[in-house]
Amino acid sequence: MSRRDALLDMLRAIVNRYPRAGSESQERLRAHLETLGRDLGGAGGTALDTAWDAFCREAFGHPCWVAFLLPESCAALPDLLPTLARLANRWAAPQGLHGAFDTTFEEWIAAQSDIRSTGSLGELLLRELASADPGSTHFLFLSRYYTFLDLLGAVMLRPAALPLLRRVFTQLHLQHSQWSHSYCQGYVYQGWERIGIAGIKPTEQRLALYDIDNLLGTGRRILDVGSNCGFLALELARCGHRVDGIELNPWLVGIANEVRGALDLTQAHFFVEDFQSFLPAEPYDAVFCLANHATIDGHSGLDFEHFTAKLFALLKPGGLLFFESHNVFGPGAGGPGDDGDLDRKLALAGRYFETLRHRMTPAFVPFHDVDKLFVILRRRERPVITATAPFDLAEARQHYAYDR
Ligand SMILES: C[S@@+](CC[C@H](N)C(=O)[O-])C[C@H]1O[C@@H](n2cnc3c(N)ncnc32)[C@H](O)[C@@H]1O
Repeated sequence: MSRRDALLDMLRAIVNRYPRAGSESQERLRAHLETLGRDLGGAGGTALDTAWDAFCREAFGHPCWVAFLLPESCAALPDLLPTLARLANRWAAPQGLHGAFDTTFEEWIAAQSDIRSTGSLGELLLRELASADPGSTHFLFLSRYYTFLDLLGAVMLRPAALPLLRRVFTQLHLQHSQWSHSYCQGYVYQGWERIGIAGIKPTEQRLALYDIDNLLGTGRRILDVGSNCGFLALELARCGHRVDGIELNPWLVGIANEVRGALDLTQAHFFVEDFQSFLPAEPYDAVFCLANHATIDGHSGLDFEHFTAKLFALLKPGGLLFFESHNVFGPGAGGPGDDGDLDRKLALAGRYFETLRHRMTPAFVPFHDVDKLFVILRRRERPVITATAPFDLAEARQHYAYDR
């Protein structure tokens, strides 16, 4: 088998390994590889060589990518990231040494790009992502897999988006070493096809499943609690809403602001804030509180009743609360992420909110995540004394569509 055939086979195997329903980026990447494959002896083959060369220069030439794509190699070779950092800054070498650094870099990249050389970073990456068993590495494997797709998509299909993608991953790389509670092994929790990031929870597909446009209307003033890297808030701003995102993790707010600036989405604003002490100047028309009422990072200390009382205070009367659960299949015993008692929790919330509708939404990753319950609530005019559970949780868990 020729080198090109082998490369194309591996890339195809990776892209097709975990197909994500509704992902335009993944489908475009798949179609692009098929197109190249139809003319591998001619222009398609040349384009494939050029793309692989560009991928390797980017992937192995910047510490942020290497750290995500090859975490085990970084751990096994402690010199790898510092050496790369030195090569990435070779322009700063003393006079007379620039040329030496450039030659080293060229040679090093050429060696790592050689997919026939067992143990080169390129060969290792392709082989592992195409066929290795993720075993118990869960999100670590997924974080490598989706980082690879994000970067390959940028190199092959949208080179103009590459600088922004690199800035996002540089922030993530910094976050990983400097923030002790990052999610998804430091990879992006929220995806956004618009900028070519798959994420663990893709924003466009997520909002489509929520199916809230009619209820939300237009030009609303919205708060997103725990806005993460801001992609959901930015998508809402793109649709014409004015959105404030509050998020405790400054690295994620940094990403939100990078992307906001790059896309000129000035209707969105992001603040490093703790939800528990956040006091806005005026209440909102709608609040998004997605996977946030209790967090595995241990940064939310409010019990559910106080949490919902605070949400009540943040909303105008009649304002909408969009709520996403954690694990509604849990035992309901109060463990981290256990929402097996969500019906009891929502009975408490019933003092402040009436439940309008609910639906299950499927997990977007192939393993290590569960389907979530999405609930739409409306703020009461004033709290009521008692309220009952709005639904039977066992039934709600079966309910993947709204009753119209
Ligand atoms: C499970 S993630 C959910 C992110 C986002 N709401 C979504 O569903 O896409 C929880 C997020 O809340 C943030 N967070 C945790 N405690 C917080 C707090 N007390 N105030 C603000 N944000 C917080 C975390 O940093 C993280 O980004």
